[in-house]
Amino acid sequence: MREILVRKSDLSEATPIIAVTEASLGDVLVGLGDAASAWCSVNDYTGKPSSHLMVQTGDGTGAAVLYGVEETGLSQPFALGGLVNRLPQGDYFLADGFPDPEEAALGFALSAYKFERYVKPSRKIRRLGIGDDVDLERIGDVLDGVKLTRDLINTPANDLGPEELATTVAALFEEHGGSGEVIVGEDLLSRNFPMVHAVGRASSRAPRLADYSWGDEDAPKVTLVGKGVIFDTGGLNLKPGSSMTLMKKDMGGAANVLGLASMIMSSNLPVRLRVIVPCVENAVAGSAFRPGDILSSRKGLTVEIGNTDAEGRLILGDALALADEETSDLLIDMATLTGAARVALGPDLPPFYTDDDGLADDIAVIAEASSDPLWRLPLWKPYMKYLDSKVADINHINTSGTGFAGSITAALFLSRFVDNTESWVHFDIYGWTPAERPGKTVGGEAQGIRCLFDLISERYAAAK
Ligand code: BES
Ligand code: MN
Ligand code: ZN
Repeated sequence: MREILVRKSDLSEATPIIAVTEASLGDVLVGLGDAASAWCSVNDYTGKPSSHLMVQTGDGTGAAVLYGVEETGLSQPFALGGLVNRLPQGDYFLADGFPDPEEAALGFALSAYKFERYVKPSRKIRRLGIGDDVDLERIGDVLDGVKLTRDLINTPANDLGPEELATTVAALFEEHGGSGEVIVGEDLLSRNFPMVHAVGRASSRAPRLADYSWGDEDAPKVTLVGKGVIFDTGGLNLKPGSSMTLMKKDMGGAANVLGLASMIMSSNLPVRLRVIVPCVENAVAGSAFRPGDILSSRKGLTVEIGNTDAEGRLILGDALALADEETSDLLIDMATLTGAARVALGPDLPPFYTDDDGLADDIAVIAEASSDPLWRLPLWKPYMKYLDSKVADINHINTSGTGFAGSITAALFLSRFVDNTESWVHFDIYGWTPAERPGKTVGGEAQGIRCLFDLISERYAAAK
């Protein structure tokens, strides 16, 4: 995706994309010549927002793409993304009239993404030339991160098992000079990650936990934890087929924190970054954990299992407990944790949870500014009662039978494993785009990480 955007000055021949409104079209056409005007008439082209028309310019030897925008700007975030796959192969550049060239460029590139691991790559390439006012390096780092996230989610579980996911963490960090370790299989028990082991042990592919760090040890500490369930069958509480179809995306939290880590390290942000990813397959076998089991946890809390399909919060509980042993300035976890989050807010608006009001306000503002929508939901303490257990310290799901507040109770469960870190925020993401829209292609999706990259850049920019 990064290669889609180039410096305009590096393109020898490129077709301009000219932003027009229904009001400005007439004036623009005067400048483009009679052939362009005639062609607009023939096509009844009026410059309606998000519509486009390719015209000949001057004496007919030149060309331009007219693209309709609103008076106030693009018709929707990343609207130019709706254009990229409709254009003939070739080189283009953003002419005047785009109010926010950076957003236009990002939309164009985000929509050009294709997952081509299993098919012949498309030879149709459209590049976009950008003026010197846009920071191409930074956008490139963002695009690389989003691509990594989408590729990981789109890769099916037969080719992305716990080992491959952990290896991806290691490779990404080693590429940037970071280091760490992967704790595998039975070692999870001796190293005290009982819940990661319990969830992952039924798979023929051993569970593991990747823990990597990068950056100056004295810099502000940012720790990212991601749910890495490479496939979620539901376990013994087996999901029905229709609910299992998309479950290769259940490592979407891990994929998103890796995309964010890639942005942070490529941009060399002045932070000490740590990424913790528990990697498991929630599978069915005689050795599987069961409803009614009582697990011990890294934190020491005993956990009664209500339903083996609520596996994500278990592996995250141990991973968050580890993260919380060394307090960081900011602890972020991301997970495709509950169907309830999607029911509450739909696939495009992930809820986030934190007790840090200042952080929540910052996220809300930056999410809006970066067109990376997020919505705060409450860590509503009275609902903690839903997690009461008669036989263990805590139950891991709401067994009251009401089914109330599924995303909130999952977040509350996680909060039991974070005691020392002041700024902890949890994202319950969907990780998937069900239908194509500008800036989004069907399949695995980055959610919240462009916002978080901006937030971390802003917060710690002056720290070093
Ligand atoms: N990975 C799922 C959550 C999920 C389902 C996210 C569909 C996005 C789309 C998670 O492990 C799960 O199965 N959660 C259960 C929890 C329930 C058993 C308490 C759920 O949400 O149904
Ligand atoms: Mn599940
Ligand atoms: Zn899951």
